[in-house]
Amino acid sequence: MNPLIQQFRAAGQGHVFAFHDRLSPEAQRHLLSEAAEVNLAELATLTRTLLQGQGAVGVNLEGLVPAPYEPRPENGGDPVAWAEAKAAGEAALRAGRVAAFTVAGGQGTRLGYDGPKGTFPVTPVKRKSLFQVFAEKLRAAGHRYGRPLHWFIMTSHQNHAATVAFFEEHRYFGLDHGRVHFFRQGRMPAVDFEGRILLETPGSLALAPDGHGGSLRALERSGALDLMKSHHIDTLSYFQVDNPLVRCVDPAFLGWHLLTGSQMSSKMVPKAYADEKLGHFCHQHGRLVVVEYSDLPRALQHETGSDGQLRFRAGSIALHVLDREFIRQMAGGGGTGGLGALPFHRADKKVPTVDAAGAPVKPAQANGVKFELFVFDALPFARNPLVIETRRADDFSPVKNAEGVDSPRTCRDDQLRQFARWLKAHGAPLETDATGLPPFPLEVAPSYGYDEDSFAASWTERPAAAVTAGLYLS
Ligand code: UD1
Repeated sequence: MNPLIQQFRAAGQGHVFAFHDRLSPEAQRHLLSEAAEVNLAELATLTRTLLQGQGAVGVNLEGLVPAPYEPRPENGGDPVAWAEAKAAGEAALRAGRVAAFTVAGGQGTRLGYDGPKGTFPVTPVKRKSLFQVFAEKLRAAGHRYGRPLHWFIMTSHQNHAATVAFFEEHRYFGLDHGRVHFFRQGRMPAVDFEGRILLETPGSLALAPDGHGGSLRALERSGALDLMKSHHIDTLSYFQVDNPLVRCVDPAFLGWHLLTGSQMSSKMVPKAYADEKLGHFCHQHGRLVVVEYSDLPRALQHETGSDGQLRFRAGSIALHVLDREFIRQMAGGGGTGGLGALPFHRADKKVPTVDAAGAPVKPAQANGVKFELFVFDALPFARNPLVIETRRADDFSPVKNAEGVDSPRTCRDDQLRQFARWLKAHGAPLETDATGLPPFPLEVAPSYGYDEDSFAASWTERPAAAVTAGLYLS
């Protein structure tokens, strides 16, 4: 018997091969190759800890207090320190020490869009896709600092081919394609509540992406870290695929990270309202942690301090800067001093599967568990982890839902507000409403301006002749 099948039997997972003998030789090979992806020892541990053990009951909230953060100058931060950080970040960009990294392996189910989320059109006039926006921002930053940036993009098994095809079709949006690197994230099997691996069909496992935290091991496995090293890149700027407002490489953020000797840094925004669905930066027994919105009790989310502000107001917008060798340590399963590996989180889901006869089952209720790693769980392992404040209007307006909050509509409006703000700051005649929204669509290409400074430089050289509906500055 195939040794892999024997190992599965010994681990109590022999049912995975229940239909093996009925499959064609090709289908058998496929099943075996999927099975070879599974780390049986890891799965046994997860069953013990997250299905049967204490982890099954939820997150440990003991000793949780709000984490400190570096406020922006207009909110009491030290303007000199911010200026020094910005200069240090610019120097790092000019020295070619920085690469960009997008996690784009998610399934985008909430948006209801059929295709890799990065291909979703978001800009108000030209309908540029998320990927195009990031590509143009990175190209412009590369020009500005005289060092084209390497860009790593993590895909999933499901969207890898479509993602690469999209970039090829659009000729990498003018980027040197030797500097754009795609790699797939790992997968984890979904299991039933007893920890038995679920089959999706008689010849395949129910495998799901291992969460954005899987990016750390995928960066190592794919050779991305070695490539960075060979190019003397030691700093990685991490952002999510859903957020076109992001400054893909922000000098001040990079500088704060480098000057404080941090191994992993994050940006926060004050939460807009208590129930906003953001992770919360907290301290627990002296360590920096992020507690998801779903895990922080409502009472704590609503608690206010003597200043009337939310106590747990530091919201995570999933922007991080990571040190290359720290990623390597975490990928190898050990933080500084061998402290341990990223923990898996359990999510109970409806997992399409098969019955004992191999017929498809579409569950009406959660029938299984998926396991995911979260990248922010690396923070407690980092040396000198740092949180800095950013302005939401400069960095954060994600597209997550088809309608309502964080939808294509709100994101489009936030882009318009940003373009209008830049124009008005330079005296362009433009009326906006009380929220800063202009009365008509307009767009600034990242090649013209991808942040306040680059916009200012272009405007000084070649301001718009007129600001009218459909204006496209490029
Ligand atoms: C996430 C954060 C939340 C933060 C918010 C800000 C988690 C659990 N929560 O919420 O703390 O406040 O963003 O917008 O992360 N991805 C992968 N592979 C995966 C899963 C996700 O690459 O296996 C990528 C997605 O493509 C996306 C990003 O990770 O770019 C975020 O994933 P998503 O599941 O949408 O996170 P949120 O619940 O919105």
